[in-house]
Amino acid sequence: MALVNIKIEGFPYMVDDSLTVLQACRKCGYNIPSLCSFKDGKCSVASCRVCLVRVDGVKDLVASCVYPVRDGLSIHITDPDAVIARRTSVELLLSNHNRSCQECYKNGDCELLEVAHLVMARPHFYGGSQTPSTYDKVAPSIIRDTSKCILCGRCVEACKEAHGIGILGFENRGFDTIVGPSGNRSFADSPCLQCGQCINVCPTSALMEHSQIDRLDEAMAQGKKIIVQVAPAVRAAIGEEFGLPIGTPCTGKMVAALHRLGFYRVFDTNFGADLTIMEEASELLERLTHKTGPIPMITSCSPGWINYCEYFYPELIPNLSTSKSPQAMMGAIIKSYYAQKNNIDPKDIFVVSIMPCTAKKYEVSRLQLVNDDLPNCDISITTRELARLIRRAGIDWKKLPDEEFDNDLIGDYTGAGVIFGVTGGVMEAAIRTAYHVLTGEEMEPIVLTPCRGLDGVKEATVKINGTVLNIAMASGMKNAKPLLEDIKNGTSKYHFVEIMCCPGGCINGGGQPYVKHVFLPNEEDEILDTYIEKRAKVLYHEDENRPIRRSHLNPQIKKLYDDFLGHPLSEKAEELLHTSYDANREKYPNLK
Ligand code: FES
Repeated sequence: MALVNIKIEGFPYMVDDSLTVLQACRKCGYNIPSLCSFKDGKCSVASCRVCLVRVDGVKDLVASCVYPVRDGLSIHITDPDAVIARRTSVELLLSNHNRSCQECYKNGDCELLEVAHLVMARPHFYGGSQTPSTYDKVAPSIIRDTSKCILCGRCVEACKEAHGIGILGFENRGFDTIVGPSGNRSFADSPCLQCGQCINVCPTSALMEHSQIDRLDEAMAQGKKIIVQVAPAVRAAIGEEFGLPIGTPCTGKMVAALHRLGFYRVFDTNFGADLTIMEEASELLERLTHKTGPIPMITSCSPGWINYCEYFYPELIPNLSTSKSPQAMMGAIIKSYYAQKNNIDPKDIFVVSIMPCTAKKYEVSRLQLVNDDLPNCDISITTRELARLIRRAGIDWKKLPDEEFDNDLIGDYTGAGVIFGVTGGVMEAAIRTAYHVLTGEEMEPIVLTPCRGLDGVKEATVKINGTVLNIAMASGMKNAKPLLEDIKNGTSKYHFVEIMCCPGGCINGGGQPYVKHVFLPNEEDEILDTYIEKRAKVLYHEDENRPIRRSHLNPQIKKLYDDFLGHPLSEKAEELLHTSYDANREKYPNLK
């Protein structure tokens, strides 16, 4: 890497020679728009042509997202041909776009609309026929509307980059080109993980979460007792929806907003996370000491990972912990213990989970997550959907006070529960409790440093009372694959493995607030490089400040076992808190 001298609009700058023209311009304070490039402003397709600029000595305009800087390069963004070309590119995209902007789900967040304003696109300038479109709303988590797609390919890249399975691709040719699962199938008829990483980068509403707000409205109208539970990663990101900087902790205001939305009770899913740790840590120790299941045991709280395992590694299902996810445990306990103690008919309860994740929408529909003919959770909505609800209710975020979660009987939580939202957090929380179970003492220091950080794969060796535990953590299925291959081949050295579907864990889930890629502000490539880290810090900070940081010390969890469940892995706990998986899931059903 070396510094080179360039000029932008005649002004001299020194930039890194590894940059593209787009990246260099942004670093120097010029916001060239981009629709197909995302994240760091580098691109592999250069398909949208909204980033065209003039470079001295080059005959044609160049796509700045792929054109490298070099010493002496002179760049003109305001070159008249470049200005017109960028506008034409956008107008052509708009000519084949379903412009029902008023009722569009992405209104307010649409990057295409933003670019159209910027280049001063003329209304309906190019006409003509439109590519036949597909509207797929069969899958529980993701809706695809190709009438909104601009063929930028960000979703194709994001899916490949995170998971390496290429669910999305370009279909057909020329004017008939569309993006979707192979054969233009529904997401429901393909081995899509439902993680929503594609939604996070889509510049329009071609890909959206499958909203369940209408079902919530129905339940409200029916007078159900609606109990809401909120996952840890939501509080680390919801503020972004209301203009706060990335990494602003918002627990108190979020709870206050939920109280004002008319929910019967507002509980923290972290109580469910503490319960998951109790069951999962006990299960691990049982496997290690009494050989009750294969080693390594693999965590099971990430529904995108469960989808991946069922579709691509069904032979590893016995390695999965049978413990339900915190969301499902929470729902099961609300509809059993909580209902019983409060004399409520579980049929009158409607459990809503608020999750950073679109795959949780799929999870609530799993037939294995039902007790007494009632689903553990009724619906799951994303962080983004929660923000919509808050706005719809006319709540002024700035004026909200800080309030506490309800914690009558259930809902109290520890720092261990909070860190579930970040890669390595489940492992760290589980080891805190496993240490106690094995030694009768508390682990000191409490922080397990090798579990921290956003590397795609992390590993460590932990010694507890002479027992050596080799542990590994991976997020993103592309990162997890080598670990899974080793387990499959019998060559894995690990005893316990944590796997999270989304890179970085739930804080980077497919239901989190959009981070706009179209204009990354200047020097702030870091914003995208570090937004996951900033959200993670919110959770680690909350862990540090909780009065109790170990799941087994949660007094309400202890009472739950004393009064209702007996002990971890008891018959009742197995019935309510454990699940099974589907080893025969077809990758392409309905296509025989
Ligand atoms: Fe450069 Fe799309 S062609 S951002």
